[in-house]
Amino acid sequence: MTYYSLIAMLCFGLYQLVFHAMATHDPTRGFTSLPFNTSFYHIQKPYDRQENERYSFINGVHKLWVFADDKPLSRSSPTKPRSEIMIQGYIYSSGVWEFEGDAYVPEGTSGVCIMQVFGAQAPRATTLMLRVYNGSLMYYRQSILVPNIYDRWFRVNVVHDVDRAKLRVYIDGHLKLKVGGRGGTSHYFKCGVYAQDNDSSCMESRWKNINVLKQLTLAT
Ligand SMILES: *[C@@H]1O[C@H](CO)[C@@H](O)[C@H](O)[C@H]1NC(C)=O
Ligand SMILES: *[C@@H]1O[C@H](CO)[C@@H](O)[C@H](O)[C@H]1NC(C)=O
Ligand SMILES: *[C@@H]1O[C@H](CO)[C@@H](O)[C@H](O)[C@H]1NC(C)=O
Repeated sequence: MTYYSLIAMLCFGLYQLVFHAMATHDPTRGFTSLPFNTSFYHIQKPYDRQENERYSFINGVHKLWVFADDKPLSRSSPTKPRSEIMIQGYIYSSGVWEFEGDAYVPEGTSGVCIMQVFGAQAPRATTLMLRVYNGSLMYYRQSILVPNIYDRWFRVNVVHDVDRAKLRVYIDGHLKLKVGGRGGTSHYFKCGVYAQDNDSSCMESRWKNINVLKQLTLAT
């Protein structure tokens, strides 16, 4: 083996190591995990239903489901039905925030938002929606992030840099979306099921290991 081929091999090995580290980079690095328990969230469900008719929490798994013909969250709301975990304990207007959770969407669930970053410049209400249509995980109805999402657990990381108006979405640790913010002065995270257009008769998502994180800020 020549000296040059040895150098080339070493360089290639190093490149592969760095590339692998970048491709599987941990999206929570540099973030602090915040306390998360029932003091920080509540369930939004059809107003005429008991919580346990649309939500369960068993062995660490939050299961949320709703029917297309269910009522909205309040009598006066014009919105479509939902069963969602609303994380009202962390309402933010600046800084870099992150939502992390493992999600599962059973086959058949479609036309539904499973995770949102609430708050935007009016008339919009949301900065980001992760939706499922026909088995694809999508950013609103605009782009497909993962084509075959049904019937398996996948890790979701959504990073929201409010001051720079930038968001990143990672699925299973892989960066799938970089997108701009949509304004607004008050934000929070939600996950579950919120019916959209072309909604299936029943919609369900399951969540575990939900984690809210905030980027450490350096003293200036
Ligand atoms: C939730 O966590 C907070 C902060 O650690 C704590 O003060 C509070 O008592 C906890 N609430 C429940 C319901 O466990
Ligand atoms: C999903 O399938 C339905 C029914 O075939 C169709 O109307 C809808 O446009 C599809 N949605 C997307 C986002 O492709
Ligand atoms: C899906 O929704 C769009 C917009 O609301 C509608 O025009 C279309 O007919 C729907 N498709 C189906 C299959 O329901």
